[in-house]
Amino acid sequence: MALKPVPDHVPPEMVRDFSLFTSPGMQRMPNGDPHAAVARVHGGPPIFYSPDNTRDSRGTWVITRAKDQRRVLQDSESFSSHRSIFASALGENWPMIPLELDPPAHGVFRSLLNPLFSPKRVMALEPAIRQRAMALIDRICASRTSCDVMSDFAFPFAVNIFLRFLGLSDERLDTYVGWGKDLLHGDSVKRTAAALAIVAFIDELAAMRRKEPTDDVMTFVVETEVDGRRLTDEEVRGIGVLVFVAGLDTVATAIGFDLAHLARNPNDQALLRGEPDRIVPAVEELLRAYSTVQIIRVARKNIDFEGAPIRKGDYISCATMIANRDPAEFECPNTIDLAREDNRHTAFAYGPHRCLGSHLARREIVIGLEEWLSRIPDFRIKEGTAPITFGGHVFGIENLILDWS
Ligand code: HEM
Repeated sequence: MALKPVPDHVPPEMVRDFSLFTSPGMQRMPNGDPHAAVARVHGGPPIFYSPDNTRDSRGTWVITRAKDQRRVLQDSESFSSHRSIFASALGENWPMIPLELDPPAHGVFRSLLNPLFSPKRVMALEPAIRQRAMALIDRICASRTSCDVMSDFAFPFAVNIFLRFLGLSDERLDTYVGWGKDLLHGDSVKRTAAALAIVAFIDELAAMRRKEPTDDVMTFVVETEVDGRRLTDEEVRGIGVLVFVAGLDTVATAIGFDLAHLARNPNDQALLRGEPDRIVPAVEELLRAYSTVQIIRVARKNIDFEGAPIRKGDYISCATMIANRDPAEFECPNTIDLAREDNRHTAFAYGPHRCLGSHLARREIVIGLEEWLSRIPDFRIKEGTAPITFGGHVFGIENLILDWS
């Protein structure tokens, strides 16, 4: 297939036919393995140009080495986070906060939000997290020896906890999950409709909390101050939208990939079932091996990077799924070793924008796996079914039918 045209400053020899969206293995397909499909970039150069590597088919430079990705992610002077990914679906350009802000504004808002995501706050949620996992799994095994993990467990578990974290009830859980899916994985019509619905929801929630404060995240956001002033409506919206979207499918997807791995690898399953203490380090290895997020930065100036003539405005992809399978960083990166030591993966990014929700995400995944393994006997992928996976900006798994009959 002919490659899309590339900008004049990109040397033809630096162009590669690779895309997280369209390369073989990335399409929505049964039994796909998009993570194995990205690993092949490691046979090539440290940086190359992909002509079609975003949802709107833009070209990006692709950084393949973990150490070079860390350089980019730490250097906000040269590489900006401002892209307005969400707002662009509405033809607008406000940032999601703090994700799409650069220093110094980024630091101001990050410090403001930090206490909301503290390990202490996450610890307070733990009993509710465990209770929710137990209730869902008990309901499944009461009458069945098979289920679709994604719709019966991973989503209702992760999204319920996340809504609780935000101070929202889960009456509309399915609607929220639907918005998240359309936003991240839908076509442009679905994306815009989902973006409109989420903005309306966040604006309405902010108005309600201004009128009747409670002790939830949105009340904090509408009442807090920066530089001696309340936040503007746009800032409140930028924070609300990010926090809402960030937790909608990330954790559920991680649990899906993890349980798919355990279903296909009975030895790993037996190891964790027999020695539950190993689940915490195992989750780090699973986060590494099944990383889901492509991070993009925008060049703020012309810069030569490992021989690539990056020009101001160019997109630079630091895909966590690529860095975390880098053989220069991890021994046998495509072997999933649940006892791997010194696992400095970047599934939650690196540098100033590293994930604020990582404490919560980690505890949810660990508790989800602990409860699943202690309640469900040996499980495998149900015969005649196949998990549907897809690549893209955020990798995903759509269904996972497990059987323990
Ligand atoms: C397995 C689950 C998750 C993964 C893999 C993940 C991954 C990431 C990554 C890679 C970034 C950096 C993006 C960039 O720099 O462009 C990020 C940022 C962020 N994440 Fe997560 N995330 C997860 C769950 C969550 C959850 C549950 C929340 C909220 C409760 C959350 C909140 C955030 C926030 C607020 C930021 C922005 C931080 C900043 O810009 O300073 N994430 N996440």
